[in-house]
Amino acid sequence: MRVILKPNHQQASIWTAHYIANKIKSFAPTSERPFVLGLPTGSTPLEIYAQWIKMYKNGELSFANVITFNMDEYVGLDAQHPQSYHHFMFENLFNHIDIKKENIHILNGVAADLEQECENYEKAIKDCGGIHVFLGGIGEDGHIAFNEPFSSLTSRTRIKTLTSDTIKVNSRFFDNDINKVPHQALTVGVGTLMDAQEVLILASGAKKAKAVYHGIEEPISHKWTISALQNHRHGIIVCDEDAASKLEPETIKYFKDIEK
Ligand code: GLP
Repeated sequence: MRVILKPNHQQASIWTAHYIANKIKSFAPTSERPFVLGLPTGSTPLEIYAQWIKMYKNGELSFANVITFNMDEYVGLDAQHPQSYHHFMFENLFNHIDIKKENIHILNGVAADLEQECENYEKAIKDCGGIHVFLGGIGEDGHIAFNEPFSSLTSRTRIKTLTSDTIKVNSRFFDNDINKVPHQALTVGVGTLMDAQEVLILASGAKKAKAVYHGIEEPISHKWTISALQNHRHGIIVCDEDAASKLEPETIKYFKDIEK
């Protein structure tokens, strides 16, 4: 695992945005050989998306031959709902770049058959040849995508019931009313994430420090699904100082040393 330590959220986001942009550029994607990118929602990736929009507008980066798969979506919210992840992605990224609509994949939380929807999603990823880079955030309890504590570390895309902790944390987007937060989501599994060639997780702020500590220093456990990243050949956690604040000084020294 690589751990990239940056002084603040802005610098961690800029590093991540450039790292992935360089991956896309050096891959030189074409319509026959597209770059496949996994994407998250939440407040964490907003600055990365702003950076990519800037790069696109400056003519430095194109998404014309990029295929995207989002991590998750709430059950019961349609694409027009202001808190749906569909809406979030178009508002904050897709409406501002040159991605082709047919290259965008987001789970449909109002599909008539949710299980079939999840199965189709796994198949669509496979049909594209798998995901090159999966970008993610992290929940305060260490969840990646919506893989809540005690999710199977080999799980695939499926319906997941959200914990009351996650519902409470996410209620900030629903007028702080827990009753407005959907209780279920469709999410890629930990196994789906681990199949990506590279997984990059951005963690910012003190609220994520415990999850970062468990992900990096404690043994792999389904209690902290982020810890599955320890088994990935190309896992990267990018942290700002606050998110890294519970790491042992020797751990910080080690990762700073090898990144020099
Ligand atoms: C939600 C999403 C996760 C995200 C997490 C953290 O639960 N399903 O993908 O990583 O929130 O969100 P934020 O970045 O707003 O802290």
